[in-house]
Amino acid sequence: MRRQLIAGNWKMHGSKEMTSELINGIANGLGHVSGANNFDVLVCPSSVYLSIASGLVSETSVKLGAQNVNANEQGAFTGEISLPMLAEIGCQYVLLGHSERRELFGETNGQVAEKFSACVALDFTVTPVLCIGETLEQRQQERTNAVLSEQLDAVLEVTGIAGFAKAVIAYEPVWAIGTGETATPEQAQNAHEFIRNKLAEHDQDIAQQTRILYGGSMKPTNALELLSQADIDGGLIGGASLQAESFLGICKAAAQIGIA
Ligand code: 13P
Repeated sequence: MRRQLIAGNWKMHGSKEMTSELINGIANGLGHVSGANNFDVLVCPSSVYLSIASGLVSETSVKLGAQNVNANEQGAFTGEISLPMLAEIGCQYVLLGHSERRELFGETNGQVAEKFSACVALDFTVTPVLCIGETLEQRQQERTNAVLSEQLDAVLEVTGIAGFAKAVIAYEPVWAIGTGETATPEQAQNAHEFIRNKLAEHDQDIAQQTRILYGGSMKPTNALELLSQADIDGGLIGGASLQAESFLGICKAAAQIGIA
């Protein structure tokens, strides 16, 4: 059975104070959630705060992730951060190809695939969380599955299905991110099923074990219904991950499913 993963993407929010308050609040709160051992919790603060966060999570069950990485191991890449650097400060995960990086910073499928491939080359010391999803226009043109296919194929072509052996995928419909509009459980399940079937065309076992998270206006009030879907294995949460209370509300939904 796949363990649910509840991940907070803090984006470009936070401060030193917020980092410690939020991580301590989440870690303490999880202590009061029955069934908290049945799912994983991940926080992805801004890279500036990763070192501080690493110390804070070290005595807890909370895992640490970065929001981006450069595909090169080292070199003259001013302003960039490498995978060995992330690994050294205790990051276990890294988000790749978030739609904001694709849209606002022009990241291409090819560049995302290079980053993914770098994680594989480093033997998954840092687990990639590959973010994929369609825009509103693409959904309206009924191109959702074609877009998801393209985004997955770009990675499959570089790493093969073996690259997904330890990866996480996050399905984030762009139109649901930060808009308050959530995909219906049925829309989300359909997309997740499509993604899993696509992996299964290459390898059944890997398809069955790969965690596919949903992201896009997930909150305590809609989490249980989304997380209950057969192919939804967790959440990648933006806005609602910035307050311990709302993030824990989503964790409680995951705990309920783990127990059921
Ligand atoms: P929101 O939860 O704020 O919609 O953001 C989702 C997201 O982009 C997580 O990566």
